[in-house]
Amino acid sequence: METNNNLFKEAYNLKIKHRGPKVYFRGLIEISNVCTKNCLYCGIRKGNPCVDRYVLPDNQVLESARFAIEAGYGSIALQGGERQDSEWVERIARLIREIKELGGTSQPLGITLSLGEQSSEVFRYWKQAGADRYLLRIEASDEQLYSKIHPSGTKNHSYSTRLQALYDLKSAGYLLGTGVMIGLPYQTRVNLDNDLKFFKELEVDMVGMGPYIPYELTPLGKLVAQWKQDKESSEFRGDFWNLSDKQLLNLSLEMVARLRCLMPHINIAATTALQVLDPLGREKAIMAGANVIMPNITVTEAKRNYNLYEGKPGLQDDAQATKDFLLKNLESVGAEVGWNERGDWR
Ligand code: 5AD
Ligand code: SF4
Repeated sequence: METNNNLFKEAYNLKIKHRGPKVYFRGLIEISNVCTKNCLYCGIRKGNPCVDRYVLPDNQVLESARFAIEAGYGSIALQGGERQDSEWVERIARLIREIKELGGTSQPLGITLSLGEQSSEVFRYWKQAGADRYLLRIEASDEQLYSKIHPSGTKNHSYSTRLQALYDLKSAGYLLGTGVMIGLPYQTRVNLDNDLKFFKELEVDMVGMGPYIPYELTPLGKLVAQWKQDKESSEFRGDFWNLSDKQLLNLSLEMVARLRCLMPHINIAATTALQVLDPLGREKAIMAGANVIMPNITVTEAKRNYNLYEGKPGLQDDAQATKDFLLKNLESVGAEVGWNERGDWR
């Protein structure tokens, strides 16, 4: 613990030196929970029949984008389940153009997309429409671990396709974000060390990584629940499957801090999943070197159905309440906000 406190301090100081004290906001719009994939950890996987599926109508997306402008957020992120049909592709392109026009003569909102794997043509098409950044987590940079947390033998869950998509995003000219989950079943310390190396080698502009939160309505969540029933087994389960919330939070903060030391200039998100483990989890990440937060600005009616995992915080709060709550907490740790700024490092 003592060593971690020193690590957190070092990371925080490096952030201040290279990026300054500001935290940048990206208003998160959860545009749809319809997904064609079946990732074993995710609550909105196609195979979960208990999800009320929705697709936000254009006016609700634009309403949230207008909120972001008025709130001084500088950027938004459009996040949704993975779909590759042409109707979806066209709709996203149209929305990007409309959002870019919203601000009138002032600086347009920065747009991050987080819409899963697409062909290189589609990545380019959305970039030309005006998107600035793309967030596609590798989830686990180790191919074997990746294959354990995704359905086997399916073409759309292959590690190599994922990797190719990251390269395609780079060539298309996006600012690139990726990330992993921390504390996954079967994951080891060596995996996490290699995740950090992976980010460095890929020279990413942004990283969003957070704790894995088991969700009982998913295959991986069920597996972890079984393991906890049967603690004595000698089968290989990785280093982290039985951590307490406190230990998992600490491990996640350690990853943030180590990444800041390794890549002092990039944007590092304090992710929402941290808030599941500790109400002040994101603020603690800011103190350990993170500098980006993605406050949810999705219309409240839809938000409760975007359940990636159990105990997702703030489901009842509207965008304004989310902002007020966040500002109060950020103030308590002495953080400044980069109002109306993009906060891109290059
Ligand atoms: N716990 C933590 N993060 C999760 N995600 C999906 N399911 C979970 C879970 N159970 C993350 C994935 C995905 C992002 C949108 O949400 O990393 O990329
Ligand atoms: Fe779909 Fe993303 Fe969930 Fe996988 S993690 S099931 S791609 S929403």
